[in-house]
Amino acid sequence: MTAIPARFRAYVAERVGDRVDRGVREFAEADLPPGGVEIRVGWSSVNYKDGLATRADGKVARISPLIPGIDLAGEVVASDDAAIAVGGAVLAHGYDLGVSRHGGYSEYQRVPTGWVVPLAPGLSPREAMAIGTAGFTAAMSVVALEERGLQPDSGPVLVTGASGGVGGTALAILADRGYEVWAVTGKADETDRLRTLGAAGILSRDEVTAEGRPLESERWAGAVDAVGGATLPYVLRTLRRGAAVAASGNAGGAKLETTVLPFILRGVALLGMDSVLVPIARRRALWDRLATDLRPRDLGIHVTEVGLDDLDGALDGIMAGSARGRWVVRVGG
Ligand SMILES: NC(=O)c1ccc[n+]([C@@H]2O[C@H](COP(=O)([O-])OP(=O)(O)OC[C@H]3O[C@@H](n4cnc5c(N)ncnc54)[C@H](OP(=O)(O)O)[C@@H]3O)[C@@H](O)[C@H]2O)c1
Repeated sequence: MTAIPARFRAYVAERVGDRVDRGVREFAEADLPPGGVEIRVGWSSVNYKDGLATRADGKVARISPLIPGIDLAGEVVASDDAAIAVGGAVLAHGYDLGVSRHGGYSEYQRVPTGWVVPLAPGLSPREAMAIGTAGFTAAMSVVALEERGLQPDSGPVLVTGASGGVGGTALAILADRGYEVWAVTGKADETDRLRTLGAAGILSRDEVTAEGRPLESERWAGAVDAVGGATLPYVLRTLRRGAAVAASGNAGGAKLETTVLPFILRGVALLGMDSVLVPIARRRALWDRLATDLRPRDLGIHVTEVGLDDLDGALDGIMAGSARGRWVVRVGG
């Protein structure tokens, strides 16, 4: 038995020859994969990986047709686990969602029980998706730096790609926790918004992607980087002795050209962040913290709401680097 209607609306990406056809379609319950928890999806979000999953050259989608959406939040309509009650609010993200298994851009979804995160009181499904995979990754990055000893009095912390999802949320979380946060952005017109989110200072993308010496003046007590490319080498050569950067992304390119000198002469650390396969117990614990002490104070200025029918523009926008905060997707609302 299923609690999902026989047909419902979903945004589907389907490979047709060299291109990907995208759009909202009727989707059949019988075409959803098996899973222990059935969810009426209220909200999803747009992440960089979703943009890649809907492009022919994106190398992310593993099935076709695919309902993209690497994260989702909504209400449980059926469950094989007493701890995940029918009627309760939950979220899921990562694992195979929106990649090799249908994801969040769907009015209903069926998910393996061990992937489900019950939502802590105080975080609505919409708020959870305003944070979403990008915000979860930002929180992971902050926690990884703090577990290595970073604290607000350690010194200034750098956040790159600050107008985007990971960067903007990391900026907000760090500023709320009392850090002096400096933001790197390629968008001069984002300066005011980034200051409102909590940036103490702004660096332009040009400043950090210019050629530099293998080691420069020690400046940053820590850094959150979702950009990679020519930006991460700047971060490494300007970190203070013993400091670390939490690196999660490649919005500025996947190739890393640097030297070993920051590692061997300053003992700096490059911490890799992978949100996809975080074990479920740690994932649930981090979401509980995102509802409490890691909760960004004001995500309002960081969020644009779109519907399933508006996804083409948001997906193209994130691939064009035009993110200004996060896009939440109203699926069922
Ligand atoms: N490892 C993980 O588990 C994980 C999880 C989530 C995301 N990610 C990755 O993290 C990255 C960011 O994701 P997101 O959702 O935050 O994307 P996003 O919202 O598009 O933000 C990326 C930001 O990077 C900057 N940027 C874009 N193109 C750039 C370029 N060519 N050179 C330098 N900077 C550029 C822009 O910020 P400014 O204009 O302000 O500079 C943009 O807003 C992606 O690579 C994504 O795949 C990884």
